[in-house]
Amino acid sequence: MKDFIVAIDGPAGSGKSSISDIVSKKLGFTHVDTGAFFRAITLEALRRGINLENEDEYSFLDEINVIYKEGKTYLNDEDVSGLIRTPEISNNVSVPAKLKRVRERVIDFERLSSKGKIIMDGRDIGTVVLPNADLKIFLTASNEERARRRFEQNKLLGIESDYNTILKEIIERDKKDSERAIAPLKQAIDAIPIDTTKMSIDEVSNMIISLINERNE
Ligand code: DC
Repeated sequence: MKDFIVAIDGPAGSGKSSISDIVSKKLGFTHVDTGAFFRAITLEALRRGINLENEDEYSFLDEINVIYKEGKTYLNDEDVSGLIRTPEISNNVSVPAKLKRVRERVIDFERLSSKGKIIMDGRDIGTVVLPNADLKIFLTASNEERARRRFEQNKLLGIESDYNTILKEIIERDKKDSERAIAPLKQAIDAIPIDTTKMSIDEVSNMIISLINERNE
């Protein structure tokens, strides 16, 4: 298969990352999880103890590099894959993600990874980052189902959590991600929407694989 770019956007817990991972493994694509870039920057900002709201305090962005490779996230050379999935990061990440300076630096990280056969997932991939993608998907699921998935995911990661708190946090994060001024979470006009509430991961993955094969004939 020649170069082919798939953009997958959607709210937290819609299954973007797991599904992108499965589809890319099955088809030999590279998966780029752009949420991981924002999470790694948030981790670094918290470690430095900066005021997250203050754009002027992000000069460290020029000193760091974030790479997403084979399901792992590296902040400089440190594997931070586990550290960026904690509730502390999830609850703070929308603050750096709304800042122009942060988004511009993330675009650098995204550009470096967008060559060849790519599945990139995030919030603004189809609208801003890869507007010429060969296929755009917008994944959704009910708030309750997305909270249930996060709860199960946390359990697997050994993170203790409460379903109702997660539900509240997910709704809050979507609101912040959709209402911010720069590159908000939004369905691209040419994206195909898939409501995954009642679908299994395999069903969604197979549907996307069929769409890729159809467009690539
Ligand atoms: O997909 P995720 O939960 O790992 O994303 C973490 C946060 O990063 C999300 O709340 C908003 C931000 N994000 C973004 O603004 N743009 C993207 N392309 C990806 C993520």
